[in-house]
Amino acid sequence: MCGIVGYLGLNEKKEILLDGLQELEYRGYDSAGIAVIEGNTLHNFKAIGKLKNLREKTKNYATKGFGVSIGHTRWATHGKPTELNAHPHLGQYSYVVHNGIIENYQSLKEELQSKGVTFLSQTDTETIVHLFEANHTHNKNVFSAFEETIERLEGAYATLLITEADSDTIYFAKHGSPMLVGFHGDDVYFASSDTPIIGKATAVYYLDDGDYGYASKGKLHLFDANGAKAFTKQALTTDKISAQKDGYRFFMEKEIYEQSNVMTDTMMGRVLDDTIRLDELEKDFFKDITAIKICACGTSYHSALTSAYLFERIAKVRCDIEIASEFRYKEPLLTKDTLFITISQSGETADTLEALKMAKRAGLKSLSICNVDNSSIVRESDASILTRAGIEKGVASTKAFATQTMVLWILSLYIGQEKKTLSKETLETEINAMIHTPKALIVSDTLHEKLHRLSKRYLHGHGFFFIGRDIFFPLALEGALKLKEISYMHAEGYPAGEMKHGPIALADSELFTIALMPKTMHYDKIKSNVEELSARDATICAISPLPFDLADDFIQTHYDSHPMLEFFEMMVVTQLLALEISVRLGNDVDMPRNLAKSVTVE
Ligand code: G6P
Repeated sequence: MCGIVGYLGLNEKKEILLDGLQELEYRGYDSAGIAVIEGNTLHNFKAIGKLKNLREKTKNYATKGFGVSIGHTRWATHGKPTELNAHPHLGQYSYVVHNGIIENYQSLKEELQSKGVTFLSQTDTETIVHLFEANHTHNKNVFSAFEETIERLEGAYATLLITEADSDTIYFAKHGSPMLVGFHGDDVYFASSDTPIIGKATAVYYLDDGDYGYASKGKLHLFDANGAKAFTKQALTTDKISAQKDGYRFFMEKEIYEQSNVMTDTMMGRVLDDTIRLDELEKDFFKDITAIKICACGTSYHSALTSAYLFERIAKVRCDIEIASEFRYKEPLLTKDTLFITISQSGETADTLEALKMAKRAGLKSLSICNVDNSSIVRESDASILTRAGIEKGVASTKAFATQTMVLWILSLYIGQEKKTLSKETLETEINAMIHTPKALIVSDTLHEKLHRLSKRYLHGHGFFFIGRDIFFPLALEGALKLKEISYMHAEGYPAGEMKHGPIALADSELFTIALMPKTMHYDKIKSNVEELSARDATICAISPLPFDLADDFIQTHYDSHPMLEFFEMMVVTQLLALEISVRLGNDVDMPRNLAKSVTVE
């Protein structure tokens, strides 16, 4: 889940690499590094921490003339975030960057060490460069030595290698981690996603698993297990998506405010006056499907949990949800009447992607709900529905969750419509609520100001419980996840009715309960659950359209006609609460410690 950039050409390489890495920094920011070969001179810089440290270190360096270059931003998997562990990794005369995990690195390392190779880092990546140079000593053809190297690698990787033994060439290989190649004239770019090369390259080729080869003199030489491989470039959008924060303090804040507009995009062409349309799905897509299984991770898992209520209640289709990393190893029983849905903001999450591959091997039909077109998960799925959230930069996911949930809601209606399990009246009611969603997502100054003021009361204590029932239970899980991601305080989401079976033992005035109390869904039941907590002196922050006397703090919501409208309005409240608490604690809202935006390792 690191980020890779590479460039071959005449332009100034340092800026191309640093700008590209900046776009990928959200994927990992423990350390960053670049390596450049110009003529026969090799330059290498590394710095721990964010990219600005590398910028500072390289401020007096600029490249001139033709050269090859690679860069990397890292999220530590093997070995601590130190400079020695930062990429690019050096052999005697070659450099390598890598995303993913080399699973057999330990045995390769021992083999190389027994031949006298010294390792400087604790990383799996370093084995690639030493293995390459070991192969090169007996096989003087650089490309064959590289081929021999990747043949030995097991696991997931996307890797770039430059070497003084062939100083005008970049070698590459992709297996299980994303990588693409961009072109503009004689310039060749590599990157682990397309954002770093938008505005630079004009055409692109998305590498397939098993692709490898080299770029030299403006040309890509592509191979796979069958030998030389033909490929077709696609046009790359020139519409550089602005990384600006539009005046907001943080990307997360901007993204929370964007949700209202983005939701309109998500619904466009799909939610019509009296019908739901999904052009992405072939007619009869749901024929023979009697059940749904959804796999996802993190926030996407929470939108999946929400949808299980909707699929069963609205579409009348059985629906199971699984955390992808659990699903992979449980030897699940899969039957072909089950539609396998994956949900992923990035489309690159390793566990979700592997779960999808497993389901495909078992012959299941697959559908992905994703924010990134052409991502690995989208390409692997039989069909996909894009969430259209736009680039999400804040590591704590907000608009991706909102749009995923909307797509799933739309899908539940669509299935009900196709399978004729949905009455005309229900369809009308649901569509009417959907159309009001963008309004329910508008952040008012009053609300934001109130949460800003309230946040100062929640900077201590021994933990938070977010509680809710029905679809508000997954929302409670998501609210708690947001808070822990960016405040670093302990927070749990819990089904409100389950508190009495254990967690209530923790209740005292230092236990903060964020109670989601919608009017349209089991209000009296959750009210009783909150009263039980209040009686044990827990501090209660109630979010509800109905006044609640026992609340220590009360946030009044306004939508009270449909559960999903209440859901979305309360979602915004929990997002802003987490944001304001994090700001008061002085944390890095957009890049919280230890996290990464996209997790492409197991
Ligand atoms: C990481 C991110 C989370 C995200 C999860 C799943 O842990 O920090 O925000 O929910 O990955 O990512 P995906 O891209 O598959 O939705």
